[in-house]
Amino acid sequence: MLKNDLILRAARGEEVERTPVWLMRQAGRILPEYRSVRAKLSGFKELVETPELAAEVTIQPVDLLGVDAAIIFSDILVIPEAMGLTYEMVEKKGPHFPKTIDSAKDLEQLKVAKPEDLQYTIDAIKITKNELNGRVPIIGFAGAPWTIFSYMIEGGGSKTFSKARKMLYNDPVLSEELLGMITESTISYLKAQVAAGANMVQIFDSWAGVLPPAHYTRFSLKYIEQIAAAITEVPVTVFAKGAYFALRDMADVSCRTVGLDWNMNVEEARILLPNKTLQGNLDPCALYGSFDQVKEEAKNMLDKFKGHSHIANLGHGVYPDTDPEKVKCFIETVKSY
Ligand code: CP3
Repeated sequence: MLKNDLILRAARGEEVERTPVWLMRQAGRILPEYRSVRAKLSGFKELVETPELAAEVTIQPVDLLGVDAAIIFSDILVIPEAMGLTYEMVEKKGPHFPKTIDSAKDLEQLKVAKPEDLQYTIDAIKITKNELNGRVPIIGFAGAPWTIFSYMIEGGGSKTFSKARKMLYNDPVLSEELLGMITESTISYLKAQVAAGANMVQIFDSWAGVLPPAHYTRFSLKYIEQIAAAITEVPVTVFAKGAYFALRDMADVSCRTVGLDWNMNVEEARILLPNKTLQGNLDPCALYGSFDQVKEEAKNMLDKFKGHSHIANLGHGVYPDTDPEKVKCFIETVKSY
């Protein structure tokens, strides 16, 4: 049914004719075609919550860039919203939560999200599935509980995430209760994404790198494992940015693929994770180079993964001011490697 299932075969550790490629944050950000859809709307959230348009911008990178998978256009912050904590996307600044979680009393105001609360994303996946007509697989996604927790405590992005980290020391019981609620919400949301047509799912732990190893094990990896173990229907990818100290532990997580950021040592990851597919890990800034540099950097990256199951990607999301032609050059280099 799928005309191109390279990424699914690579994720399962099977033989592939060539390395599949996609980019984190490929939907939105860099494409003028995205910005023109977005310009007609009141804001980012309207796009996320309008399934026909979310499907349209999900498919744009497949048509315009030639990637081997479509990642559904949404955001990790829809989960806190469905739990009762609404967010705003402030133009040029990023997400902001008018209310945050500070106490047990705040926690009482929250609920475990149900998939129906996020029907717009489920509908967007169904429309995308229909319109893609099997051209490439669809990647569903969610934030890792720790990363979502950070936003709910901090109310937005942060350099240090000190408020969220403080909560782990001062109130570990409350922390675990909230992390448990996020985990439960995420499992049913991801299962609904799969039921709607997502062929694989990725868990983004964007702020993994701010935790000390013992806290990472207790407050992040434990919940990631609960999610990965619950999603038995499709291959799961875990991308934990900055968590090189936890690579060894990733071997025991019930996921098929482990995402590497550009700081991570590929050689070490190959040794520690012989049975996992590895995803990544070109520095997004490599795409600011000349076309020749992009080709060279992409080939050097591919050389490092040679002989290991691999899904080519950047080491984090593509930066908004990247030239789409350089992105295409990266993709073409992978495809002709
Ligand atoms: O990968 C994709 O292309 C699918 C869509 C997607 C978005 N956000 C759309 C988006 C995905 C997978 C995400 C995940 C996400 N969102 C993460 C994890 C990945 C990572 O980068 O670490 C995080 C931390 C967020 C939270 C978030 N959303 C931030 C910090 C911001 C503002 C800064 C920015 O532009 O990334 C967003 C907004 C956002 N999410 C945009 C897009 C396309 C830009 C909004 C706009 O169009 O104005």
